[in-house]
Amino acid sequence: MTSIMAKTRSALTLTGRAINKAVSFIVFSVLDLLDLLLCFVYKVADFFIESEWKPCYCSSSKEAITSSGKILVSEQGESKVVCLTSTKLQLEEISDTLYTRPCLVSEVSKLTVNELKRLTADATINVQSCADKMKKGSVRSTFSVKSTIVEMLQGKMGRPKSQPIPRWSDCDCKFCNRWTSSSKDTLFVRTQGRKDTAREDVLFIHGFISSSAFWTETLFPNFSSAAKSTYRFFAIDLLGFGRSPKPTDSLYTLREHLDMIERSVLEAHNVKSFHIVAHSLGCILALAIAVKHPGSVKSLTLLAPPYYPVAKGEQATQYVMRRVAPRLVWPAIAFGASLACWYEHISRTICLLICKNHRFVEFLVKLLTRNRMRTFLLEGFFCHTHNAAWHTLHNVIFGTAGKMDAYLEAVREQLNCSVNVFHGKDDELIPLECSYNLQSRVPRARVKVIDNKDHITIVVGRQKAFARELEEIWTNSSSSS
Ligand SMILES: *[C@@H]1O[C@H](CO)[C@@H](O)[C@H](O)[C@H]1NC(C)=O
Ligand SMILES: *[C@@H]1O[C@H](CO)[C@@H](O)[C@H](O)[C@H]1NC(C)=O
Ligand SMILES: *[C@@H]1O[C@H](CO)[C@@H](O)[C@H](O)[C@H]1NC(C)=O
Repeated sequence: MTSIMAKTRSALTLTGRAINKAVSFIVFSVLDLLDLLLCFVYKVADFFIESEWKPCYCSSSKEAITSSGKILVSEQGESKVVCLTSTKLQLEEISDTLYTRPCLVSEVSKLTVNELKRLTADATINVQSCADKMKKGSVRSTFSVKSTIVEMLQGKMGRPKSQPIPRWSDCDCKFCNRWTSSSKDTLFVRTQGRKDTAREDVLFIHGFISSSAFWTETLFPNFSSAAKSTYRFFAIDLLGFGRSPKPTDSLYTLREHLDMIERSVLEAHNVKSFHIVAHSLGCILALAIAVKHPGSVKSLTLLAPPYYPVAKGEQATQYVMRRVAPRLVWPAIAFGASLACWYEHISRTICLLICKNHRFVEFLVKLLTRNRMRTFLLEGFFCHTHNAAWHTLHNVIFGTAGKMDAYLEAVREQLNCSVNVFHGKDDELIPLECSYNLQSRVPRARVKVIDNKDHITIVVGRQKAFARELEEIWTNSSSSS
């Protein structure tokens, strides 16, 4: 009897998987076409509304200059962006998944890299590589950049910098537009705790399309009064999210995110040594900070870290993108991730509908749910620009895929802090194996798997228990050091 049931069940699972694959194939083929169509629609719309042809990552040669006048160059499969500040050229790493996402319709985009190499064969300029400084020391590399591009950039440099204005498809409320109205360009930081009594600092980093409210509305009220007087809490909104600035000319690279965190928390509040608590995408930033400030981190707590070990011979960025965004319609969260990763123009459309009108959408949700729904998650979900979400997703999660092993090795070999990993057993976005993989790289990491919790409810809904766990982690790491 049981064997028949087991057989039936496994047959059903197999059928279900096959149906999911088949439906997904059709749906994503249609979406491929839709994205292509939207590309033309936005080209025309941008031209009429902003009276300028705006580049996107679909076309091959045009995106050599991104919307902010940065040059995209590639070398041995690695791509970097040359930024012009008024005095020097900078190289920044951007993920190749931004412009190469091989699929049926966009086979053409495979040509992109070669195309760019050909395009960049004219004039030569020397640029100082500021990326990878930590690993290789300051490397002086030579890149070839087409002379006309250099001329255009020089033209741009000569002109006074125009006031950045929000794009027509982005929200222009005062939070979303803070970058342009305020001269002190730092992140929005919610602090709690008294400077006079607090002895230790804790930095909280939220995940993708979220905000500091993810912590402040849940965990913060649940800390014991002893913890509240011992620790100073800093919960940031990442660059481009929540109430933080959302510059239109940023490429939201790992370096830009780190710079902003350092400037807004470590420097602004004179934080010398600290604990880190991070969720999802925030874990990558947390590791990067920990490796950059090895002596300063007292404990590292990572929730659902997106760590996918890459097999030899695989291209790390592409591999991780396919793991995070598998082009499946089910589970729903995988579908959402696939939409966000694969489609520049469809995700811009979603942003146009939701983020541009976030105040109205929030009002509507409150009305429909008669104000019963906790809206703090919505704030994080709605309050970002397409530019911020699109680039952060690609540059931070996929772009760092090839560096994660080096980060984890540094944590294992050079850092002495405790590493604590929490993962919901039912997490459908980041699978549990990510945490075990991390533990195999950093054997001292303690992995705690929580039953019946998913990617969000790992914190939301179990804040009281989690607050106790955090307090224990902090106490332990202070007494051991
Ligand atoms: C814990 O947080 C929840 C809301 O997130 C709140 O309802 C509850 O009262 C808090 N518990 C304590 C002890 O503060
Ligand atoms: C970690 O501990 C070792 C040995 O106790 C010490 O030599 C090293 O400097 C420590 N590293 C950091 C980053 O504190
Ligand atoms: C804290 O230390 C105690 C005693 O060494 C240990 O039993 C406990 O598991 C530790 N907890 C954490 C979260 O590290």
